[in-house]
Amino acid sequence: MTKKKTGTLLTHVSSRPKEFHGVVNTPVHRASTIIFNSYADFEHSDRLPFYYGRAGTPTSAAFEEAIAALESAAGSVSICSGLSAITVALMAFTEAGSHVLMADNIYGPNRTFCTTILKKYGVEVEFYPPLIGAGISKRFKKNTTALFLEAPGSITFEVCDIDALVKAAKARKITTIMDNSWATPLLFRPLQHGIDVSVMSATKYISGHSDAMLGVISGTASSYPRLRDAATTLGICAGSEELYMGLRGLRTLEVRMKEHQARGLEMARWLQKQPAVKRVLHPALSSCPGHEHWKTYFTGACGTFGIILKETDKKKIGKMLDGFKLFRMGASWGGYESLCFPLQPKHDRTAERWNEKGFSLRLHIGFEDMGDLKADLEKGFQYLSL
Ligand SMILES: Cc1ncc(COP(=O)(O)O)c(C=O)c1O
Repeated sequence: MTKKKTGTLLTHVSSRPKEFHGVVNTPVHRASTIIFNSYADFEHSDRLPFYYGRAGTPTSAAFEEAIAALESAAGSVSICSGLSAITVALMAFTEAGSHVLMADNIYGPNRTFCTTILKKYGVEVEFYPPLIGAGISKRFKKNTTALFLEAPGSITFEVCDIDALVKAAKARKITTIMDNSWATPLLFRPLQHGIDVSVMSATKYISGHSDAMLGVISGTASSYPRLRDAATTLGICAGSEELYMGLRGLRTLEVRMKEHQARGLEMARWLQKQPAVKRVLHPALSSCPGHEHWKTYFTGACGTFGIILKETDKKKIGKMLDGFKLFRMGASWGGYESLCFPLQPKHDRTAERWNEKGFSLRLHIGFEDMGDLKADLEKGFQYLSL
């Protein structure tokens, strides 16, 4: 059978109307108790598709099947948030005494998990410069068990040389884990590039409507069983409503991503011309470090990127942020609404100093009228020159 094109796959994957009286969407199964039909079933519960709500329901199975198909994964594990997808993956591939290499531009709370809980349980954590490429080999130790990458990185949006990192890790049988929340499998498929584990915050573009917390981990035939075991042992699972929303979001992901890409790029180019803006960190523009890697590995961009302002005076920045009417401050991205978030990379970098003096903002371009969005930014920027 020929491989399904993305639009067709997203529309029909894991939809089984015949099982649900013709209903096209897999219903929400709110379940804790699931009755065993017999003692024989009870004795062999591992062979049953479902035996307890935390271990899975038709709703979680439908979401996981859809993500696994998109990721070309042996299996996917749904989980309660993007952060828990990261922490479960890291716990699955580390133990006391192991050494992990984490990109210096990872999502902040991932960094906090590594420097607190992972460290407390005896894991040695080292941060590496995201653009290190093949030079990563020099950082490997005898006890290195995992290499974590995020592309583009949080806040600063550098794109690493994915193939170089994977090649080096494979030569030493080190497990590679990638946070692919920005691209989703529509723009980059980690497992097809030899990455062992792909983690995503489905809270973002996959759900797409700013109303669900959801994460997912996907693995290859060799990494998936460990991921499933870790999530089961830790007792972490996703809520049934959230799983439903994740699956519903997937159905329209391709159309939404195309629109986010077009709007994000238009806005990024417009911002390059604004006097208040020092630099635009959009992976599809040459002003973004690692832009050449984005061109090599990714098939597109979403609507999330960064800018660095010339201004450093916090009072003026505060007035600008309070002055925006459409770009409100929210600690997320990937929904239908535009967002702007002030984040300062210098507080989070340890492998390499962040030398940019200007103030950083993460922007997410939603579905408001583009003219209105530009007018909102222009008005806010005026506070910087007062
Ligand atoms: C790159 C990245 N990964 C993971 C997460 C965590 O996802 P969640 O908020 O679903 O826990 C976030 C959240 O902002 C993120 O930006």
